[in-house]
Amino acid sequence: MLTTELHRHLDASLRPDTLAELIRAQGVHPTLRTTEDIKEKFWITKPMGSLKEVLDCFVLFQKVLTTETILERVARETIEDVAREGIKTVELRYSPSFVSEYSQLDWRLALGAIERGISMGSKATGVQARLICIISRDYGSNTADKTVDFAVAHKESFVALDLAGNEVDYPNPIFAGALRRARDAGFSITVHSGEATGPETVWQAIDELGAQRIGHGIHSIKDPELVKRLVRDRIHLEVCPTSNVNTRSVASWGEHPLRRLFDAGVRVSINTDDPGIFGVGLDEEVARAKKAFGFSEPELATINSMAFEDLFKVREI
Ligand code: HPA
Ligand code: ZN
Repeated sequence: MLTTELHRHLDASLRPDTLAELIRAQGVHPTLRTTEDIKEKFWITKPMGSLKEVLDCFVLFQKVLTTETILERVARETIEDVAREGIKTVELRYSPSFVSEYSQLDWRLALGAIERGISMGSKATGVQARLICIISRDYGSNTADKTVDFAVAHKESFVALDLAGNEVDYPNPIFAGALRRARDAGFSITVHSGEATGPETVWQAIDELGAQRIGHGIHSIKDPELVKRLVRDRIHLEVCPTSNVNTRSVASWGEHPLRRLFDAGVRVSINTDDPGIFGVGLDEEVARAKKAFGFSEPELATINSMAFEDLFKVREI
């Protein structure tokens, strides 16, 4: 059993019953009304056409995450869910710009609500949780700068900055300035890269954006020099196998490179990415990884240790 998770989007972790209830209360969808509707018609349980197609479904989360009360509840329930899956330490991430785009909720109030929910969940379960602040690629470089300013103004709330969203249309170089400022302010960096893109984007994430960890990074396997670099510099890949299969970032479970990356000595973890859309918790994710990649219990223990060791450190302020 894995007890540490590094890559889970809080703003894409709604329970199906909570999501259905919020949709009904706010009338934001004509046909998704019940828990069964969410599971059968909203959850992505088979490969879609592309990552972009999957990301386009996230708008429903934006439409229901409208108040502090709702954000507090979703954060609390996420910690409860994480605890039920056997996790003891988790890094949750969310995008302030994504969460507030529809609601126009003040970013500071949204953060406060999320922190209250996490704190309630942690008190009830004993789960240790930390937050990562996401810069959403799709809102461009001005919003990226605003997100860095926000993270710097709330340094005590975040252990790191992340870059997420559509990497194909909003590539890494656009964000070099924003992430330089984040690093100068002392933030650790993780970047979603090499998910639906090739190894050259992972090189950029490391060399131009200063990433110490990479979200996904699975296409690194295509470049032996890059694999060597990841091993040498202990750069960690936060791998999310179900997400990779269902966004069609890999063609099938059989072609997923997690086993090859692990065998090459790359530091990796297993993660859920977006439980509210893929319908899978970490316990099920691990069961699938065992089946697909033949991981033994000692190998899973090694993966768990790598996740724990590569947690972002809480910084001295
Ligand atoms: N990739 C990029 N952005 C995301 C993802 C992902 O897998 N999940 C949530 N935001
Ligand atoms: Zn992600």
